[in-house]
Amino acid sequence: MALISLRQLLDHAAENDYGVPAYNVNNMEQMHSIMEAADQTDSPVIVQASAGARSYAGAPFLRHLILAAVEQWPHIPVVMHQDHGTSPGVCQRSIQLGFTSVMMDGSLKEDGKTPASYEYNVDVTKRAVEMAHSCGVSVEGELGCLGSLETGMAGEEDGIGAEGTLDHSQLLTDPEEAAQFVKETRVDALAIAIGTSHGAYKFTRPPTGDILAIERIKEIHARIPNTHLVMHGSSSVPQDWLAIINEYGGDMGETYGVPVEEIAEGIRNGVRKVNIDTDLRMASTGAIRKHLADNPKNFDPRKYLTAATKAMKDICKARYEAFGTAGHASQIRAIDLEAMVTRYDSGELDPKVN
Ligand code: 13P
Repeated sequence: MALISLRQLLDHAAENDYGVPAYNVNNMEQMHSIMEAADQTDSPVIVQASAGARSYAGAPFLRHLILAAVEQWPHIPVVMHQDHGTSPGVCQRSIQLGFTSVMMDGSLKEDGKTPASYEYNVDVTKRAVEMAHSCGVSVEGELGCLGSLETGMAGEEDGIGAEGTLDHSQLLTDPEEAAQFVKETRVDALAIAIGTSHGAYKFTRPPTGDILAIERIKEIHARIPNTHLVMHGSSSVPQDWLAIINEYGGDMGETYGVPVEEIAEGIRNGVRKVNIDTDLRMASTGAIRKHLADNPKNFDPRKYLTAATKAMKDICKARYEAFGTAGHASQIRAIDLEAMVTRYDSGELDPKVN
């Protein structure tokens, strides 16, 4: 199985009513946990590299990490996605490296911090789409800014995210504008703002509809039923791992994430890609803290990193099962990027929006 495009995978997910977790990767242990879990559950995989990952590991290392996974688990379809590209140029460089999907986040200006106008967003996203589709590569766009409906604060993480306070309309994607945006840009998938934010500190209490707007997903899906929706900031912030981190010397404070049942409700309403980073970071940190506390004589990193891999794998498996991803990898036959170019050129993949 070669790498596949995001569009191919999300079309399959929509036809078969499931969602796919998109995990951020920075190192080998994350990659192993994602792939072992996918192997055990027969799940297709989306792995994504953020700007933070690119500066931590370096783009060539990330690329080869993902290619190594494809070589080691040849029967699992893998989408290699670039998370939060801040310009068409960033997307172009990722395509040159072999990414099969890119996110052009034009909701923010090129600094990755300043909220951009609708017109700016359409312009950069359209340019990224033209360039990517001519290579058979998929594009995810974003409309609306990630941030807290509790506080109105924008959410920054890993160097990406608006700064300061935003008004309510910026924090919730407008369904009519979403329809217009998809029609104008021809994106393959659309990230929407519904009150989620990156990182561990999303909600100060278990979220209810006023601060996590699942209803808004339903309204957007009703307006653009043929567009694949993407939920960013979708870690559930596992309370058991939070407790372990704090029990073994951490100091994370009370915080809540997006409940898995709410994500499942989103998937019933057109969400096909669910971005998760924080949950795996918390599981690995908790597992390493506990391992080192329980084994004070150990100085072999492989031992505590094995504990971290297992902790992350358990979360990956649980998400593959809860999102309905499990059981679908073996149904997918890879369409190569050349064939995707032909499909884009023929108009077959144009957005179906009135
Ligand atoms: P979390 O911080 O909730 O895991 O979200 C990650 C994300 O959305 C990456 O784009």
